[in-house]
Amino acid sequence: MSVLGPRYYFGVYHWRRRFRSLALAAVALAVAAVVGSRTRRRSGRIAASLVASTAAVRGFRTLRQLMGPTPWSLERAKYDALASGLPLDRADRVLDVGCGTGRSLVGIAPHVPAGTDVVGLDVFDDRVILGNGPRLARRNAARAGLEVEPVAGDAATLPLRDDSVDVATACRVLHDLPASSAEGALRELRRVCTADATVGILELPLVPDDVVGAPDPEAYWTDRVLEAGFAIETLERLELAGREEPYIVLVARPDTAR
Ligand SMILES: C[S@@+](CC[C@H](N)C(=O)[O-])C[C@H]1O[C@@H](n2cnc3c(N)ncnc32)[C@H](O)[C@@H]1O
Repeated sequence: MSVLGPRYYFGVYHWRRRFRSLALAAVALAVAAVVGSRTRRRSGRIAASLVASTAAVRGFRTLRQLMGPTPWSLERAKYDALASGLPLDRADRVLDVGCGTGRSLVGIAPHVPAGTDVVGLDVFDDRVILGNGPRLARRNAARAGLEVEPVAGDAATLPLRDDSVDVATACRVLHDLPASSAEGALRELRRVCTADATVGILELPLVPDDVVGAPDPEAYWTDRVLEAGFAIETLERLELAGREEPYIVLVARPDTAR
């Protein structure tokens, strides 16, 4: 954060559910306060104060969740770890799939030389992330010194030509898709990548919700990436201070022998 305030605004995650829960807590608190102040019976006042304290706790928790992640925070280390395995300094064209409001673009920005053609692709659906749209992606990236062309599209049907991307990244997006779309997205990455391209995947230790059983996320993503026609260069489990869960950082290249 600069002295003038946050430099970036990446939107509020799960804002509809959380705003709804905040509004409900506020209504419950107000009703309990009115009922508690008007009732003469002790049991009524006790019940009202119980409702009020439960609503206050809920409201406070939701407020904290609204700030998770804080809309201006970056957690730069994970993007640095990803970028360290990618030849971003030599790429003519970089694609960030699922760029959203631009966190991952800002994350890779210090590693991308000026003049590189950078495409930020997302469905730009603001029902989950408040403000998710091309404007924020472009603005946040620009504040990090990166000129980006935001493209609205689906990762599973990339609106890009074959063999047109030198480095592609997908940060915290694949696990959010249904399994078939995640597989489709990886196949699409293979299609748009040049033969000597590099793909970097940054994932939470999660698999898509509709995957049956509970496969190990590292093995799961390794298999999907191989199936899509890539060879794995590196697979790292990234533990960051202050975080309970590690990230999975996977770097792959087209398997041209296949
Ligand atoms: C958790 S955000 C990650 C944003 C950013 N990459 C980062 O590292 O913070 C996931 C993003 O994936 C996008 N997304 C979800 N489904 C998508 C799809 N089928 N194609 C492209 N983007 C998608 C969402 O709109 C959202 O912006």
